[in-house]
Amino acid sequence: RPRVLSGIQPTGDSLHLGNYLGAVRQWVDMQETHDAFYFIADLHAITVHPAPAELRLRTRMTAAQLFAAGLDPERSTLFVQSHIREHSELAWILMCNTGMGEAARMTQFKDKSARYGESSAGVGLFTYPVLQAADILMYQAHQVPVGADQKQHLELTRDLAQRFNSRYGETFTVPSAFTPKEVEKITDLQDPMAKMSKSSSSPQGLLELLEDPRVLTKKVMRAVTDTGSEVVADPENKPGVTNLLRIHSAITGTPVADLEARFAGQGYGSFKKEVAQVVVDAFAPIRERTEKLLANETELDRLLAVGARRAGEVAGETMRAVRERVGFLPKS
Ligand code: TYM
Repeated sequence: RPRVLSGIQPTGDSLHLGNYLGAVRQWVDMQETHDAFYFIADLHAITVHPAPAELRLRTRMTAAQLFAAGLDPERSTLFVQSHIREHSELAWILMCNTGMGEAARMTQFKDKSARYGESSAGVGLFTYPVLQAADILMYQAHQVPVGADQKQHLELTRDLAQRFNSRYGETFTVPSAFTPKEVEKITDLQDPMAKMSKSSSSPQGLLELLEDPRVLTKKVMRAVTDTGSEVVADPENKPGVTNLLRIHSAITGTPVADLEARFAGQGYGSFKKEVAQVVVDAFAPIRERTEKLLANETELDRLLAVGARRAGEVAGETMRAVRERVGFLPKS
């Protein structure tokens, strides 16, 4: 079985529709066909200094939502990144093989550092993509399901793998990104050219997995649509309607063309009503299961410990090879 690996940051209490359609749903599907490793990226999360108690809470909440969305602890390995100390170690070794220029080209760093001010942005934000490369290469992953925003980090990961392999000898599998076209960028309901995102969307533009169904419905009904009244996909001229069509299609499996035919001549109102219903129906069971899982923290922590044990075995094996290749003296 090919190996798959992916991660998500515990940036809030709730996952959002972009995470769900852009990533988590693929994670669930791929556990049937792949040897699957998924993790909660708490090391990445501290680049922007969440309050410690918040981080702990969000880490558990993220885990609960991932299990609730369909990750099965029997069929895939879910773990917390900081539980596997080797991630930080491999990140350092890869940093020593990364050019300043190639790190500085990462657009996500440029965006984030612009927000914090060039010189007060932390070094962790700068080296963030190298830690991400370490996450991926540690598990010798073949495929990495991610949204479009992560593709550049995947390119860097491939470059670092190839460079390490040619400098020190064949060590890492060179991974590829896996991104279904339709959902690679779910956009903000209020700003349909921008990606839906916890950190940059307004609350009105963001659909959260754990949100009250009435609030979800209201947000979809108030989503920015475009001039005209035709329900047709046209990413350039009708980004708002296109986003809603993609959301419906991704959740229900109905081809966009069928939706266009069905809503022809009906205007935006009835279309939005149905999209709202589709989202509410998709989220409701996940929300219920999340609440049940969160009611038993001991069990949740036990599942994460099982994941950490399995992940730790693979990480240990990779790092034994890496240390040897690099020339570190074995501890006797
Ligand atoms: P994060 O936590 O921002 O997002 C988790 C996943 O959700 C996808 N995503 C989206 N997809 C489509 N439309 C959107 N609006 C949208 N918003 C988010 C992201 O592309 C991602 O797949 N750096 C990563 C976490 C990470 C990681 C890794 C991922 C750390 N190490 C190793 C893969 C492999 C991140 O911040 O994702």
